Amino acid sequence: MRNDIERVLIDEEVIEKRLDTMAAEIERNFPEGPLVVIILLKGALVFAADLLRRVPRVLEIECLNVASYHGGVESSGRVDFLDRHFPEVRGHHVLLLDDILDTGRTLHAVKERLLEEGAEAVHTAVLLAKDKQRAEEVSADYVGFEIGDEFVVGYGLDYQGKYRNLPYVGVLKLSVTH
Ligand code: XMP
Repeated sequence: MRNDIERVLIDEEVIEKRLDTMAAEIERNFPEGPLVVIILLKGALVFAADLLRRVPRVLEIECLNVASYHGGVESSGRVDFLDRHFPEVRGHHVLLLDDILDTGRTLHAVKERLLEEGAEAVHTAVLLAKDKQRAEEVSADYVGFEIGDEFVVGYGLDYQGKYRNLPYVGVLKLSVTH
């Protein structure tokens, strides 16, 4: 697997340190009371598992299946909700977790839907945010790292379903995607 990686962008140790500070920020900023966390599958799985174990409070954890990339290296421009049931969020503060903020379409669409479903407030956290013009007016309340506008894998992020279990964030060799 390592042979397919051109370069490591953010290594494991740096990610772990940042998660410590992010979890502390979240813990400090949220009002007392129940907090529902929504994990966007599958990309935010690894990030969420490592982040949430650092947040010392009662959390209700839900997952949502959405698709926007459909396995390739570019956003399709459409966000599909793939679950039959939507989590109950009415009246709750929600923390929405995604792996990466790219065009902004995913976070925007899910945030809108959560508000439509009656969430009291929706806060957002992403491991990565690409430094680029977004297609939708949206930003994340908590950002692990700002990165350039390039396709990355690892730490939950995939290329055609692979590389999610890399413990770091890296850039694939061109020979893998072409
Ligand atoms: P948008 O464009 O909606 O993108 O902000 C968010 C979703 O698109 C996927 N995405 C990526 N996946 N490497 C990946 O493996 C990337 O560089 C990348 N950029 C966007 C991801 O699923 C994210 O939730």
